[in-house]
Amino acid sequence: MTPEETLAQIARQISICQQCDLHFSRKLSVPGEGPSNAQIMCIGEGPGFYENEQGRPFVGAAGKFLSELLARAGLTREEVFITNVVKCRPPGNRDPLPEELAACRDYLETQIATIDPKIIVTLGRFSMAMFFPLARIGAVHGQSSKVGGRLIVPMYHPAAALHQPALKSTVERDFTRLGETIKQNVPARPETILKAAEPEDPAESATQLSLF
Ligand code: URA
Repeated sequence: MTPEETLAQIARQISICQQCDLHFSRKLSVPGEGPSNAQIMCIGEGPGFYENEQGRPFVGAAGKFLSELLARAGLTREEVFITNVVKCRPPGNRDPLPEELAACRDYLETQIATIDPKIIVTLGRFSMAMFFPLARIGAVHGQSSKVGGRLIVPMYHPAAALHQPALKSTVERDFTRLGETIKQNVPARPETILKAAEPEDPAESATQLSLF
């Protein structure tokens, strides 16, 4: 199976999953989205109201802010694989329960193994706890550490930062620093270099072509 096929198969399994009680209240499951060969993966907590309606991760206010944060790191949403520790909405956006996290864990682990990202950005304490069970987000946010051959970067959750102005500038700074970490640790892919070298204005490229 290709990585795309594996991810599609996981998404199908999630859509009919009944391994925890969250399936009773879900409208749509939210398996995650992004390229199967993404070098960067973001892992949030769980779908909220709009994600449950649309079946896509981070489409509400926190998602808009996440896109802005990714831009600070020099990334677009389209080049990142974005998912959550639980794939169905906890009612009323409550914290996911230990049994819900455990029921969903295999899906996330298979997604990580399939995509094999160079950097995993955890958003909030639940995804951070997968890698650093004893860490406190206040002490480790923004700092990358190697775990099993990849860099894990714990970040404050964008929704928390939206609600607490003091955290907003902290998370913005952490994502700017993530951009540096990416430059130092993730080699640019040939297609990225090519794209960067292409003139943006088609008129300009026509002029250049006509020179030869
Ligand atoms: N918050 C999350 O943690 N995940 C989402 O998909 C949306 C909001």
